[in-house]
Amino acid sequence: MNQQFAKDVLNGLNADPKTLPSKYFYDKKGDSLFQEIMALEEYYLTRSEYEVFKTNKGALTKTFLSDVEKFRLIEFGAGDGYKTKVLLNHFLQENVEFEYLPIDISGNVLNQLESDLKRELPDLKVRPIQDDYFHALEKIENGSTRSVVLFLGSNIGNFRHKKAIEFLTELHARLKPNDLLLIGFDLKKDPKTILNAYNDDKGVTRAFNINLLHRINNELDANFDTSKFVHYPVYNPLTGTTKSFLVSTTAQTVEIMDAAINFDAWEAIHTEVSQKYSLKDIKRLAEESQFSVVRNFLDTRNYFVDSVWQKS
Ligand code: AVJ
Repeated sequence: MNQQFAKDVLNGLNADPKTLPSKYFYDKKGDSLFQEIMALEEYYLTRSEYEVFKTNKGALTKTFLSDVEKFRLIEFGAGDGYKTKVLLNHFLQENVEFEYLPIDISGNVLNQLESDLKRELPDLKVRPIQDDYFHALEKIENGSTRSVVLFLGSNIGNFRHKKAIEFLTELHARLKPNDLLLIGFDLKKDPKTILNAYNDDKGVTRAFNINLLHRINNELDANFDTSKFVHYPVYNPLTGTTKSFLVSTTAQTVEIMDAAINFDAWEAIHTEVSQKYSLKDIKRLAEESQFSVVRNFLDTRNYFVDSVWQKS
């Protein structure tokens, strides 16, 4: 049994209000539900970022090669590489000298990605690293080659503001002066469009959220009756924060190992934050963590931005 998982779950469910960390969504089932989410019409983020890459691959290449002859492309949370492949393909076509280092905590995900890449892009130099982001960075020898770190898909949106600053500041400390960071941010837009992305018609996002309770049942000897919880996302246009909740439809007691967790009727568990940004918010976030924005690349609808940063 995963001790840290057990500890985090019990801490979160004994707190008031109840919370569960969203990083635990991604077991095998969660990974595959997230793949399904990315294919949903409502979940525009994936297609918007894909468009940004398709349209700007030339300009991105120039940016990555400014003042240098080669670089290594380090990707945090590589996933299935759907968007990254647009860049990888282009770099290979243009004979760019680079190496690709996908980092993921999931060995499953990395093995799949590596075998896909070996088949689809046999000329690519790829070195997967299974670890958390900062430990992986430590494993990469720090020669003089420029590192370009990719953090795509609005993954940064899962951090609250304070955590985001902490994360970026730690990353800043580990980068060389000439390194670059490319971060994908989901932009503030029509609140209905945002809310729909977390409340799709087919109920895939609902299943994704509820799967966290299944995971707790499977891995921690718990007895959640998932039919007694509903998925409820909200978007606050003042703060740009989407929050997802699981709401208990009835008073109930759930057993997790030796603990008994009581729910009042309609008591909620907060499970996820998905932060949305304006370009001003992004500039401020960069500055607060000692970076400056080199260039922003947006899709035609202005739904999503890939923002390239350097150390200031
Ligand atoms: C993978 C964190 C970017 O917050 O949009 C998708 C996860 N949650 N639908 C997001 C997610 C619900 C996603 N990120």
